[in-house]
Amino acid sequence: MSDPNSWITPHLEKIFKEYDPDDQVVKAASYSLFAGGKRMRPALMRASAKMLSIDPEEIAPYACALEMIHTYSLIHDDLPCMDNDDYRRGRATCHKVFGEGIAVLAGDMLLNSAHEVLLKQAFISENHARASYNISNNSGIMGMIGGQSIDLESEGKHITLDRLYELQKKKTGALILASITTPYYLSSYDEKILDLLQDFAGHLGLAFQIKDDILDVEADASVIGKSTGKDARDDKSTFVTMLGIEGAREKLREEEDGCYRVLSDLSSMNMDIIDLRELTDFNLKREY
Ligand code: IPE
Ligand code: IPE
Ligand code: MG
Ligand code: MG
Ligand code: MG
Repeated sequence: MSDPNSWITPHLEKIFKEYDPDDQVVKAASYSLFAGGKRMRPALMRASAKMLSIDPEEIAPYACALEMIHTYSLIHDDLPCMDNDDYRRGRATCHKVFGEGIAVLAGDMLLNSAHEVLLKQAFISENHARASYNISNNSGIMGMIGGQSIDLESEGKHITLDRLYELQKKKTGALILASITTPYYLSSYDEKILDLLQDFAGHLGLAFQIKDDILDVEADASVIGKSTGKDARDDKSTFVTMLGIEGAREKLREEEDGCYRVLSDLSSMNMDIIDLRELTDFNLKREY
């Protein structure tokens, strides 16, 4: 698989060429967007598209929209009124460099630009409109924002394991789900494939956030490019704070096993799962 990061970045740069480079909000959004995140969501979308025989160029606008929404969620997540973080993607957080007001607007701008891209796609056909809606819906109160809301509300509180699953599924799982399922809407496969993609994405979304929670305790900040130890500091409800590091590791293995089970079902239907399997392996091993 070629480097997933280098795949989506030129597409994002093309979108940004339309904007005034001297505008403070554009500068702040570019600063965070082109800071070199893992680009895991575009990579997952491309892997899923490949399995469904869809040209990566066709899904590039959706991958851009998703990466812009993900980046906006990180800019806002780092603000002093949320997780109050100084360090992200190997550099000072957006608000530390540009100030809080500009950082809020940079997040808003990325969200809006993403929806401009999605609306433009929606004019192409009903299938494209469904693909666009899939991203909008998973980014909102039923998805990522809903999860961030539970995350903040749960700080310093005891919550049930069911509530923790809901929190993680929404705050991180929803954008992972959107990455993996959006290409389905442009394909001619039937709903059985959608069910399997949703099942796979459910496990991977949880595995991704459990790994994030483990790395918050174990990672080297200079390798991960963001500060560590902040979940305990903020009394967050995570798999690590609730089950301990070994309990979290066990949950991670359970969810990764779930991913491999679904991939094996897809493989037995002659689907090309190689890239999705590689990304699943990557999540288990990643140190950043
Ligand atoms: C971090 O996401 C926040 C979570 C949703 C866990 P990533 O780990 O994908 O961050 P980047 O995009 O690589 O910076
Ligand atoms: C953030 O979760 C999830 C979203 C931004 C939606 P975290 O708060 O755990 O992410 P990090 O650890 O700051 O990257
Ligand atoms: Mg957070
Ligand atoms: Mg955070
Ligand atoms: Mg975290």
